[in-house]
Amino acid sequence: LTKKFLTCALAVPFALSAYSASAVEAVTLRLAHNLDPSHVVAKTLEKMKQDLADLSDGQMKLRIYPGGQMGGPRETLEMLQQGALDMTKGSASEMEPFESAFSVFSMPYLFRDSDHFRSVLYGDVGREMMKLPEEKGFIAIAGYVAGERSFYAKKPIKSPADMEGLKIRVVSTPTTNRMIELLGGAPAPIPFGEVYTALQQGVIDGAENNEPSYYHTRHVEVAKHYSQDQHTSVPDYLVIATQTWENLDQEQRDILMEAAEMSEKYQQVLWDEQVKLDREKAMEAGATFYDVDKTTFRAALQPLYDDAAKNPGKAAWIERIESVGK
Ligand code: GCU
Repeated sequence: LTKKFLTCALAVPFALSAYSASAVEAVTLRLAHNLDPSHVVAKTLEKMKQDLADLSDGQMKLRIYPGGQMGGPRETLEMLQQGALDMTKGSASEMEPFESAFSVFSMPYLFRDSDHFRSVLYGDVGREMMKLPEEKGFIAIAGYVAGERSFYAKKPIKSPADMEGLKIRVVSTPTTNRMIELLGGAPAPIPFGEVYTALQQGVIDGAENNEPSYYHTRHVEVAKHYSQDQHTSVPDYLVIATQTWENLDQEQRDILMEAAEMSEKYQQVLWDEQVKLDREKAMEAGATFYDVDKTTFRAALQPLYDDAAKNPGKAAWIERIESVGK
């Protein structure tokens, strides 16, 4: 007991004084996600499991099912709605079918830089968005940075002209599909876990993702050309069923939120390290990274902004995001 007490006290002195007075009610939360256990976000969730146990003196447990064993985010988010699962991880694109506000994250070149992105995700705008799907059956309790998504393919893509006729896998949303079309390609809605085989068999020519996902899915083995066009920044979210949330008592919620906040901080540091590392590992595995002229991509994608201007809800989110930090 003393040892546990000590580790806990060192790590989270504030939390300890807040929660040690009464015994926390025991609960086990089941969390399924589609990432490989080696992925930054998967590691972050493992760390959160530990923090949650420490903060609650072992009373609050996370049982994690990684690697898509319960299906992709679409399926796991539906399981949350049906009360068949407590928690999952979904990217903003995967949340979009349930709550349209998340579509702003699919807008290309919306963020000035990673500081701007983080100020949005962890500021008023981002926090407000996280609660929006409550009535739909879930809320997000942590947001994770996911760098920038770029195109990778079996041949170099240096400008939109190189995308002509290419089949590119996307997390299918109206915005991502239109983005590929505007660049002259054909969007292919393939689940994350099936992209490797689709690339290998030539069903698709390329896909788009950040460096850690490119490397940890081994897509690098079958699509060696990574263009650093950095078209979107799409965060990942840790999501809990509204039903599960309501079943927790106040103390459990406070502890869960504290562990969630700790996980956000941990993930940001880990992410920055991992992007550099995974980029190097991808190169060792045979990848070539290309610096491309982003302005050509930006210009080709301008119609997405013209469309958004006609949608008052979306236009308002874009305006709020653009004004953050200005
Ligand atoms: C990202 C993200 C995942 C998402 C995946 C995808 O890497 O972290 O949440 O599922 O992209 O493209 O499907």
